[in-house]
Amino acid sequence: MKGRKDLLGLEDLSRHEIELILDTACSFQEVLERPIPKVPTLRGKTVANLFFEPSTRTRLSFELAEKRLSADTVNFTASGSSLSKGESLKDTARNIEAMQIDMIVIRHQASGAPHFLARCLDCSVINGGDGRHEHPTQGLLDILTVLEHKGKIEGLKVVIVGDIAHSRVARSNIWGLSKLGARVVLCGPSTLMPLEIERLGVEVTYDIDEALEDADVVNVLRIQLERQKGAFFPTLREYARYFGITRQRLSVAREDVLVLHPGPMNRGVEIAQDVADGPFSVILEQVTNGVAVRMAVLYLLSGIDESAKLA
Ligand code: CP
Repeated sequence: MKGRKDLLGLEDLSRHEIELILDTACSFQEVLERPIPKVPTLRGKTVANLFFEPSTRTRLSFELAEKRLSADTVNFTASGSSLSKGESLKDTARNIEAMQIDMIVIRHQASGAPHFLARCLDCSVINGGDGRHEHPTQGLLDILTVLEHKGKIEGLKVVIVGDIAHSRVARSNIWGLSKLGARVVLCGPSTLMPLEIERLGVEVTYDIDEALEDADVVNVLRIQLERQKGAFFPTLREYARYFGITRQRLSVAREDVLVLHPGPMNRGVEIAQDVADGPFSVILEQVTNGVAVRMAVLYLLSGIDESAKLA
């Protein structure tokens, strides 16, 4: 991460950089287990969280990570801002940066919005999810959760199921997992599978039972009705019947299979209740790991000296 100003996606990162973030996140996990889970690492730094789309996990997790590192934080939401008076994204961000902000976390409905800001601003920009492009910290926390259970990524069969076409989580997982040597298999309705996605080095199948056979990890994606402008499948009931992850379907996976979901879940659609809350599920662990991963990203981009990391 040396010399890197921004975190825009896992496509841009080397294997070494991904491993460095994961190792750093592991050190911060130890901080989060202390009676007072806080370090002064980013004291004097200010982070602005700009959320132009709804979020529960990412927004709170970044804010908590910033507070655990003793940064000052300010939060921007589109509603109630001067965007409603016609102010552009660039002007909004430049005005926020002018208040001596060191880092900006942005979630935006437009793919590429964080990249645009990264070019306009001197401060660091962290992508908290852009359109259907990337959600790098989600990809990293997914990988950290798998690593904790499996001890490795190399050689694992990781199945990503569902709405691949609209999923920034899928893209960040594909880049991150592939760079770390996993075998990535995508499965979903053909209408939700991007053309030529195999060019990213993944396998594609439309048969869920074939996909799940001997799977080490199943990452279940949310059906993103808000991003779907057309009818990509007849009904939610039909989607659940052909692609929903149930206990019965998981019986062909490895007996220690892990089930991940980035949230928010459509229970009974892409994932059955008893899978979401069952013994294979690590969904809440993903959320817990999100704080340490975001602490790692904030710390590494801050350029703060190693000796101050866990002081
Ligand atoms: N996983 C995720 O991005 O969740 P939120 O939309 O709640 O942030």
